[in-house]
Amino acid sequence: MIIRNIFSRRYSRKIFVWVVCVVLTVGMLSGCEKKAPESNEIKIGVCCYDQYDTFLSQLIKCFEKCVEDGVNVEYVYASQSQITQNEQVEKLIAKGVDVLCVNLVDRTAPNTIIELAKKADVPIIFFNRELVEEDITQWPKLYYIGSDAFESGRMQGELAANMIRRESSKADKNGDGRIQYVVLEGEAGHQDAIVRTEYSVNTLIDEGVEVDKVGYAIANWNRAQAQTKMAQLIERNGDGIELVLANNDDMALGAVDAYNSAKISADERPLIFGIDGTDVGLEAVVNKTIMGTIYNDKEGQARAMYDLAMALAKGESVSSLNLEDGRYIRTHYEKVDAANVLQYIHK
Ligand code: BGC
Repeated sequence: MIIRNIFSRRYSRKIFVWVVCVVLTVGMLSGCEKKAPESNEIKIGVCCYDQYDTFLSQLIKCFEKCVEDGVNVEYVYASQSQITQNEQVEKLIAKGVDVLCVNLVDRTAPNTIIELAKKADVPIIFFNRELVEEDITQWPKLYYIGSDAFESGRMQGELAANMIRRESSKADKNGDGRIQYVVLEGEAGHQDAIVRTEYSVNTLIDEGVEVDKVGYAIANWNRAQAQTKMAQLIERNGDGIELVLANNDDMALGAVDAYNSAKISADERPLIFGIDGTDVGLEAVVNKTIMGTIYNDKEGQARAMYDLAMALAKGESVSSLNLEDGRYIRTHYEKVDAANVLQYIHK
């Protein structure tokens, strides 16, 4: 009897140990499966082409405001080097990001980044610097968020044409019935630069404004470069410039800086227009140093980028985000001039 009891106790202990082992093993195995992360363990990597771009800095601030508690976001800046950005992406993937948001340095060279992401199965949301269709269609987990560059060019042309019609004597300073204009263009090869210039000038012409192009300069979205280029254009053309069409606000402000340095009075200056509606751009519209800008909806882009990033990280459906062709989100622009600028300040 005693022997039987000892035997059955030993036997039941063995069964107990065996059951515990099975439970632990099953638990460990299921822990290896890639399950959808909880919100508090989501990691997002955000890569920007440069840390000194005014519009992008403001877009990133808007993104930061969207980030909820417990979501971990790492921001990196590539100082305009694609090689640096490729290395940054590699490191972020090694750190285990669930999704990447990438503002490419060279929008024609996304392949290394796409390969790295594909290998690790990390979706990428490209933003602001648009890759070509052949590249974005390489893999279903590639997305793009930006705005419609055609619209910004068209709107800038319309805004300028309206003001030229409304204040023709102020605009056509030499009274020849034509508007002599210069263009300050963004980075060569950037989708927004090429398209904005073309559509702005063509819209002006379609609106019936007769124009002469007296100068053109690439200033890479940059205020200081635009000031230098504008100073050269002023030197070459004197008071023969009646309109400045700048591809962004920073370059419009660079033109203002050049007129300030040349000590040319407000009455003798051309009409100057920008695009973006950055804080400094809007302030310049309020002060009437530039006549208008086209609001580039950074709040909308940041919100869309965050919502899409979270849905992808959690493995949820993205259908409620209304992606165009399953991968694109483009926000709309708005015209801003002295009449409506206050409603855009502190938006
Ligand atoms: C903005 C520019 C900015 C550029 C950077 C453009 O959409 O209008 O201000 O410098 O993007 O890629």
